[in-house]
Amino acid sequence: MNEAKRTFQEGLGLAEAFRVLSVRLANAGVEQAEAEARRMLLASTHLAHAALISQPTRAITPEEAQTLQSWLDRRLAGEPVTRIIGQREFWTLNLRVARDVLDPRADTETIVEAALDLLGQRRTHRLRILDLGTGSGALLLALLAECPEAKGIGIDLSPQACALATENADRNGLASRCEIRPGRWADGLNEAFDVIVSNPPYIETATMAGLEREVRDHDPMLALDGGADGLDAYREIIAAIPKLLKPEGIVVLELGTGQAMAVSALAQAAGLKVVALRRDLGGVERALALTKPVG
Ligand SMILES: C[S@@+](CC[C@H](N)C(=O)[O-])C[C@H]1O[C@@H](n2cnc3c(N)ncnc32)[C@H](O)[C@@H]1O
Repeated sequence: MNEAKRTFQEGLGLAEAFRVLSVRLANAGVEQAEAEARRMLLASTHLAHAALISQPTRAITPEEAQTLQSWLDRRLAGEPVTRIIGQREFWTLNLRVARDVLDPRADTETIVEAALDLLGQRRTHRLRILDLGTGSGALLLALLAECPEAKGIGIDLSPQACALATENADRNGLASRCEIRPGRWADGLNEAFDVIVSNPPYIETATMAGLEREVRDHDPMLALDGGADGLDAYREIIAAIPKLLKPEGIVVLELGTGQAMAVSALAQAAGLKVVALRRDLGGVERALALTKPVG
């Protein structure tokens, strides 16, 4: 039968199901068709990757066939695969992804890398970490996973994000070292931190309508819209940093494309020092690292 039109039936072997999925996704222009097909099969069958490979003729059940068909239909209608399967890998973690909360991106791992580089040996200290606009908890939880003695706070204005970050902390065994709080950026915080990270909304309002459909239709506006020049959240966050940062502390902010100069200028005007600018795998200046000047 023509694989481009095949649907899922009970009894189809895993290898065949994989082929049907990848062909249909590739024909629809999905760039990572095979990777996405694999993720759908793993999530729908609850099998480990090794089992998927070692049991090519294991037949899919009626429930799995139904799930795969509905997931394929949703993917072909433009929904991102992570939202369909409800989970994604971020750094060393498996995070649940849910409606009304930003689906964390691979580029955001650049912020984790930059923070860990700057911390060096200090990552084993009893650090206090703050994540402003924590969303799914991605940044805070990745840092807690790498810094075994650290504790942290994640803040978000969205109650859905706070609920999801709390669930992700639990899912990854990090709940005892983190607190997730609803709130507006740093309002009401009275302590100082060793590490502050943030991936704030940074898209210019006027360009929001032109975003890719997968982003515009599925990620929440609260997580994306950075105001007229995309810098509203940076202004608020940077103004709060001097009183929130310990003298030896570090800050790492995620940047939108082309924002490095403008955000550096805001930080310098607030008395902070730019110590590193790190590019993501696509070559975009993605992570801006700041400290307090010595003396
Ligand atoms: C770009 S998302 C980043 C989410 C997550 N940190 C990540 O990297 O995947 C920005 C987050 O900031 C939150 N946010 C927007 N405005 C806020 C505000 N005024 N105070 C606190 N959080 C806010 C949004 O709800 C969203 O979760």
